[in-house]
Amino acid sequence: MSDGLLEIEDLTKSFDGVKALDGFSCSVRKAEILGLIGPNGAGKTTLFNVITGFLASEGGKAMFRGINLVGQPAHRIARIGIARTFQDLRLIRQLSVLDNVMLSFRNQPGERLGNLFFRWKNTREREVFHRKQAMSLLEETGLAEKASDPAGDLSYGQQKLLSLVCCLAAKADLLLLDEPVAGIAPEMIERILSIIRKLPTEGKSAILIEHNLDAVMEICNRVIFMDAGAKVSEGTPEEVRNDPKVIEAYLD
Ligand SMILES: Nc1ncnc2c1ncn2[C@@H]1O[C@H](COP(=O)(O)OP(=O)(O)O)[C@@H](O)[C@H]1O
Ligand SMILES: [Mg+2]
Repeated sequence: MSDGLLEIEDLTKSFDGVKALDGFSCSVRKAEILGLIGPNGAGKTTLFNVITGFLASEGGKAMFRGINLVGQPAHRIARIGIARTFQDLRLIRQLSVLDNVMLSFRNQPGERLGNLFFRWKNTREREVFHRKQAMSLLEETGLAEKASDPAGDLSYGQQKLLSLVCCLAAKADLLLLDEPVAGIAPEMIERILSIIRKLPTEGKSAILIEHNLDAVMEICNRVIFMDAGAKVSEGTPEEVRNDPKVIEAYLD
C-alpha cells in the first residue's frame, strides 16, 4: 500500500520449531492506530521484537521509510523513529521518574546528529533543555508531582503511564505499545487511552497490542486479529468484532 508508513511482509520466526510468526504481513499507515489482538502466545510481542531488532526474522521484510528493519540493530531502529513499550515495562526503578524520561531522549531521531539539529553550547545547556522538555511531558500527562520519586515507588498504573511517557519522549513517528492498559484501574486506563488517542492528530502512528477489547475497539482505526503467528482477520473494529472466527476465539 502506497501510504504505508510500515510495510511488513512475510515475517517468520520460530522458537524450537514452533512458529511464533508464520508469514505475517500487514501495513501501518501514517496517523493511524492499528489494533493487534489475539490469544496469549499468538506472536504479538514477537512481532514487536522483530520490528524493533530485538529478534531477527528468519525471512520477509519490514520496510520503514525505505529501510528494511530486518537485520538492523535495535539501537539504529530506535533512532529512525520507532519507539516501543514493554509488557514488563522495563523502567529503571531506582532512578527518578524525571530521569527515566530524560534517558528516553537518547533515542530521539537526530539526537546523535545533535550538531545538525541543535547547536548545544555545552552539555549543561543540553541537560537544562532536556529537563524542561521532560518536565513539560510529565505535566501534560499528569505525572509532574511524581517527578523526583523513584520510578519503583509509583503504583503499577502510574508505572504504565510513565512507560508510555518514556515512549513519547523518543519523539518517534511509530509507537509500538504492548498492552499499555492491561491490569490497571479504569481511571488510569482512561488517562492512558486519551494520550494514545491523540497520537494521530500529531501525525503519529501506533500499533496497539491489547487484551482490553473495548479499549481496542474504541481507539483503533483498524484491527488485526492474529493467532499462531498468522493474521486471521483484518478490518475496521466493527468488522473484526463481528468476524465469526474472532467471536469463536474469544468465546473459547
Ligand atoms: N524469547 C523466546 N524464547 C522462546 N520462545 C519464545 C520467546 N518469545 C516468544 N516465544 C514463544 O513464541 C510464541 C509467541 O509468543 P509471544 O509473541 O510472546 O505471544 P503474545 O505476545 O501474542 O502473547 C509463544 O509460544 C512463546 O512461548
Ligand atoms: Mg505479549
